[in-house]
Amino acid sequence: MGRQQLINSLKKYVLSRVQTVKPTNIVIKVCMGTGGIAAGGSEVMDAFRTELDASGIEATVAKNCLTHKVGCRGLCAKDVLVDVIVKGQKTTYQYVKPEMISRIVKEHIIENNPVTDWVVGDDYHNFHKKQLKVVLSDCGSIDPEDIDAYIAGKGYEAARKVLTSSAPEDVIGIIKASGLRGRGGAGFPTGVKWEAAMKQASRQKYMICNADEGDPGAFMDRSVIEGNPHAVIEGMIIGAYSIGADKGYVYIRAEYPLAVERLRKALSDARTRGFLGKDILGTKFSFDIKVKLGAGAFVCGEETALIASIEGQRGMPRAKPPFPVYSGLWGKPTVINNVETLANIPYIIRNGAEWFSSFGTEKSKGTKVFALTGKIKNSGLIEVPMGIPLREIIYDIGGGIEGDRALKAIQTGGPSGGCIPAEMLDTPVDFESLAKVGSIVGSGGMVVLDEDNCMVNMAQYFLQFTQMESCGKCVPCRIGTKRLLEILDRITKGKGKEGDIELLGKLSADIKAASLCGLGQTAPNPILSTIKYFRDEYEAHLNGKCPAAVCKELLTYYILEEFCKGCGACLRACPAKAITGEKKKLHKIDSAMCIKCGACFDVCKFKAVGKE
Ligand SMILES: Cc1cc2nc3c(=O)[nH]c(=O)nc-3n(C[C@H](O)[C@H](O)[C@H](O)COP(=O)(O)O)c2cc1C
Ligand code: SF4
Ligand code: SF4
Repeated sequence: MGRQQLINSLKKYVLSRVQTVKPTNIVIKVCMGTGGIAAGGSEVMDAFRTELDASGIEATVAKNCLTHKVGCRGLCAKDVLVDVIVKGQKTTYQYVKPEMISRIVKEHIIENNPVTDWVVGDDYHNFHKKQLKVVLSDCGSIDPEDIDAYIAGKGYEAARKVLTSSAPEDVIGIIKASGLRGRGGAGFPTGVKWEAAMKQASRQKYMICNADEGDPGAFMDRSVIEGNPHAVIEGMIIGAYSIGADKGYVYIRAEYPLAVERLRKALSDARTRGFLGKDILGTKFSFDIKVKLGAGAFVCGEETALIASIEGQRGMPRAKPPFPVYSGLWGKPTVINNVETLANIPYIIRNGAEWFSSFGTEKSKGTKVFALTGKIKNSGLIEVPMGIPLREIIYDIGGGIEGDRALKAIQTGGPSGGCIPAEMLDTPVDFESLAKVGSIVGSGGMVVLDEDNCMVNMAQYFLQFTQMESCGKCVPCRIGTKRLLEILDRITKGKGKEGDIELLGKLSADIKAASLCGLGQTAPNPILSTIKYFRDEYEAHLNGKCPAAVCKELLTYYILEEFCKGCGACLRACPAKAITGEKKKLHKIDSAMCIKCGACFDVCKFKAVGKE
């Protein structure tokens, strides 16, 4: 088939699809990402279907009424979120429960009178105002299990354009010009990586999507796959065509069952429609993708460990060079890209390199997806232009700190990252600026910490994680992180020694310099950044105090005479029988017997138990 014939046949296909999609008067979109489902999304969906059926909506109100599941739309804190679109007018409801559906159907859908009590407020709109959605532009809007929904929004047009009318060099030129850098952590320019693989004279090459996402608290890549799996597949097709690969893998952790299920369905649908397999869209290009489940080891996100895992070996990193683009899976040239990196590709091809590079800063182009969590009012999934100040993320998008407590720091980059103190809130969020202040963009974890967080405890938490996840191949990481953890343990238990802070610094520098892979090379970062900005907290611990009253062994519980009503609740709750007192009289804690479990603190309704 000639190129023009091919284009005509594709146009005909798209037209036939459009004609079979009926115009609809009513569309209901229920958030059914993992967060939405956990909050009751499936039950809300069922309730809508039951209610619409029972009220005979099809016959009485409108000929067409569609109920869709959609992926995460960001503000998980207000799940279940539901859009009700009547004659093009969209109303979003928050905290939706099945028992609310009959009223929504009756008043909004039948009587065209939205239930204002349950409609999202200013905080929902403010959450979105400063965001810029490229990767997430279709997430939360289209049904991730419906390939036609993706196609209707220009999905697979970029792949068609590339496969039918562009040379691999041209595609790589566009990606290079866009300035796209890898979103998996290191920020390596994607076009440069593709070009290196393209230039390898090998008959066999591989394209791998890294969906391991092991950082604690991170859910960006899972949400992208759950919300729009076809964008990732399309990105892989374009990448594979550009480098000359005919086989691809998505390496995804088995702990992501919904993402795996939707990805598998999307792959199968893409195959059926001819976007994957032999002679894609009638061209001579063939490419297919397999799903490889990972067992949830953080180190398997490291590209060489990931390759070893796909090959059936133990997931351990190896020394680089050679880099995977020269010698990767089974020794063949291999490109590994992160989920978000790949999901950007179709949008860049569709809209052009200039469009993409118009967002962001001089060296960090485009947008970045973050999982915004911790002590923040609007926790959820956000996408922002690179270079946005942290302050705008925390206060304008995130709505400020929970309980209006004082912000202490923002932890970015997960276990490989660092803590940025509140005084540096005007730091722009991009690769260069975060590195300058001792942190990283990383894959997109962003944890907000308030005055009740202990920074030593925070460093200990992340180090516990990396220590446990160390594959053990090299001594500095395997043993060095253990020693670091021992020092932190004794500091948080009030048994720290003079010189411990300096020892942490020295040992960290050695581990960073001598470890084989990124896990060990970055594991000390949370310690180094907290020592840099919160040294006073380390010193306070060495003097037997935890200023945030978090480290258990350093706490003293006491009862405040002016508040105690003598109700006896603490006495009954104390498992160590350390509390004494008669009914309606002041109670007392025997600190020698107290095991610092905090049961009295939790149980006292009169805020009469204090801790310091
Ligand atoms: C310990 C460790 C864990 C990693 N985990 C991930 C991960 O879960 N996802 C990811 O895309 N990259 C991860 N990376 C980075 C990958 O090695 C690799 O750089 C990345 O997948 C390349 O894709 P990109 O160029 O699109 O960013 C990890 C690196 C290290 C050292
Ligand atoms: S740095 Fe740690 S995780 Fe990486 S190879 Fe060495 S022991 Fe394994
Ligand atoms: S629970 Fe509170 S009010 Fe009751 S006896 Fe204990 S400290 Fe006093």
